[in-house]
Amino acid sequence: MSTKIYTIERPDISSFAPLQSSFMALLGERERQSVERTRKEKDKIEKILGWAMCRLEASSRYGVPPVEIRIDFHEKGKPFFPDFPDFKFNISHGGGIVAVAFCDHHEVGIDVESGARKVNPMIAERFFTPAEAEFLQKTPPQQRSHAFLRLWTVKEAYLKMTGDGLSKPLNSFEIQHHGDEIKIYEDGKVQDCTVFQYETDQQQIITVCVNTFPFPEKKVKKKFEVLKFLLNTPKKVVPSPKIYWQ
Ligand SMILES: CC(C)(COP(=O)(O)OP(=O)(O)OC[C@H]1O[C@@H](n2cnc3c(N)ncnc32)[C@H](O)[C@@H]1OP(=O)(O)O)[C@@H](O)C(=O)NCCC(=O)NCCS
Repeated sequence: MSTKIYTIERPDISSFAPLQSSFMALLGERERQSVERTRKEKDKIEKILGWAMCRLEASSRYGVPPVEIRIDFHEKGKPFFPDFPDFKFNISHGGGIVAVAFCDHHEVGIDVESGARKVNPMIAERFFTPAEAEFLQKTPPQQRSHAFLRLWTVKEAYLKMTGDGLSKPLNSFEIQHHGDEIKIYEDGKVQDCTVFQYETDQQQIITVCVNTFPFPEKKVKKKFEVLKFLLNTPKKVVPSPKIYWQ
């Protein structure tokens, strides 16, 4: 049992453009519609890469062509593989990074944010519990924005793990730091989940939440090589994932 976390940082727009249609051809109808509704080109690319990574990983694991992998959505939008219900995944993108987490048997949620982003920590009181807001208040001012984003990604990763998304208020559960461990409390009870958080060289905060303890063995990979491989692939040819997706 393991958790795989794949990231692609700063996909190169001009190099990606000629391959866009090949990638799009891998996606299902709902994924395509979601991409088409997205206005900014760089956001589109992040979305396409996220869905493509999911399909290619499932394809490589189950030996089904990526385009034939079925992806369905729970009521509140969480995607899943109906044909492989024990193979869980979640996607996050934004601020120049795409990240996908896969986990066997256990629900998983992932969230990314640029740690360089400046937020006004004063908004903490709107979204966070009084104890979380106090925790931020006690953080040195120059680190507060960053601490806010770290907390925020834990909140989102947790809500994406449960599948509630932002339909559930962010202050209906609480994040507590126990030494290096992050615990989540709801109705005074610690939740059966584990949080793994790290930052990339580019200051991207990546937070993954799984509903098991301890955190399953982690495999963290940057998938630059995927893009590089695709760039050298003749146009309109969708390469076999087995070649590079190991
Ligand atoms: C999932 C959710 C939390 C969005 O998070 P986000 O930070 O905006 O976006 P992310 O890139 O991290 O995640 C998006 C992906 O999560 C997945 N997702 C969507 N609903 C989900 C849910 N209920 N549970 C788990 N995953 C979900 C999808 O794969 C989605 O990919 P897509 O955009 O290509 O369709 C969503 O529930 C939501 O309510 N969004 C509202 C947007 C918003 O207000 N964001 C505030 C951020 S400051």
